[in-house]
Amino acid sequence: MIKIVPIGLLEEDQEADQFYRGTIASYDRCAARYAAQNDSIDEVKDLLTFFDEQIPCTASLLDVGCGHGRDVEYLSSLGHMVYGIDRSEKLLRMACGRVPKSHFVEGDVRVLPFRDASFDGLWMNAVLHHLIPPHMPQSLTECRRVLKPSGLLFVSVHLDDSSGWQSKGADFVRYYARMSGAMLTGLLQDAGLTPIRMTSRSAESRWLHCFARPGTKR
Ligand SMILES: C[S@@+](CC[C@H](N)C(=O)[O-])C[C@H]1O[C@@H](n2cnc3c(N)ncnc32)[C@H](O)[C@@H]1O
Repeated sequence: MIKIVPIGLLEEDQEADQFYRGTIASYDRCAARYAAQNDSIDEVKDLLTFFDEQIPCTASLLDVGCGHGRDVEYLSSLGHMVYGIDRSEKLLRMACGRVPKSHFVEGDVRVLPFRDASFDGLWMNAVLHHLIPPHMPQSLTECRRVLKPSGLLFVSVHLDDSSGWQSKGADFVRYYARMSGAMLTGLLQDAGLTPIRMTSRSAESRWLHCFARPGTKR
């Protein structure tokens, strides 16, 4: 089941929302191709395994920016109760078809419609870099709020110092704000999250992978 949550943006955020509408429209247009090209769990299997080892056996989890539900499906298969949130209606429909017993919310990762301390773990793969930098603290603060004090956040982003719109053909037009490890660490610490493991990897893009736990704000 997909629940739709109104985003409730402040007036000054309306203009900035063009970044998200553009990126999300691109994901909607490319949904079938995106799902086909990213169907294999192999690329993130070691990260999912580490995540699973650090959380309770039957954990409550939220996939923040869940896309077509590949990771929701895998984590559910391990016995966890997994929710997903995303703004792409097309990808969410695929996720819902893939894991019908999970709960999906069509909403923005800057406003998580869940109670404080709801989740043992949050999985946020390849999403944060789609936000404009002034909105990243809001999203991470929301992650911190809905995470239990003993919870675990996984976040991955493109590692680089470039930002802007990237296009590959007419359908693929997405905004990326890539970042360094120091910038991601600072954003997490400002949101009250302490990195416990950070690694990087090169595939088609360079990636930064970080696990963090609630801590004190710096
Ligand atoms: C690269 S995909 C990653 C999807 C999934 N996490 C995965 O690993 O396959 C980025 C996802 O972020 C979603 N997204 C981007 N900006 C968002 C926002 N502001 N709120 C909610 N979802 C967003 C897109 O719709 C897309 O599903």
